[in-house]
Amino acid sequence: MATNRTFTMIKPDAFGAGNSGAILKMIEDAGFKVVAMKATKLTPELAGKFYEVHKERPFYADLCAYMSSGPIFAAILEKDNAVEDFRKLIGATNPADAAEGTIRKIFAKSIEANAVHGSDSDENATIEGNFFFNQAERVL
Ligand code: TYD
Repeated sequence: MATNRTFTMIKPDAFGAGNSGAILKMIEDAGFKVVAMKATKLTPELAGKFYEVHKERPFYADLCAYMSSGPIFAAILEKDNAVEDFRKLIGATNPADAAEGTIRKIFAKSIEANAVHGSDSDENATIEGNFFFNQAERVL
């Protein structure tokens, strides 16, 4: 079932650089409403679970270490066509390939430290939102 929600993280590089506010402003200006949000820090085990789909990839160990290296913001966002529109707003995985004006083009440091996460499907948006937030922690 299509939903109008997506899930995002402001990753350790952007959080640590103090770019969370500017990124959130871009997200709100693009029409997304925050329906759940928290600052947290993943353990390597939790990062491994979140990115389990990539566990056979060569970058997996580094990615898990990186994603647990500092605090993040996790958030559920709401907008029509949320998943697709948010992927457009953040740009390509590798900032070198990201379109001008996208969040990753502006803020990402590298393909690994790429500032933000955005769910790639409605199904994963639901799974990822549920990974971080219970019912009492989100706007119903
Ligand atoms: P992926 O799901 O392919 O990208 P996206 O976040 O755009 O959906 O990969 C998940 C994360 O893994 C990505 O945001 C950064 C990291 N990653 C690397 O560190 N190296 C790589 O070569 C790739 C493809 C991803």
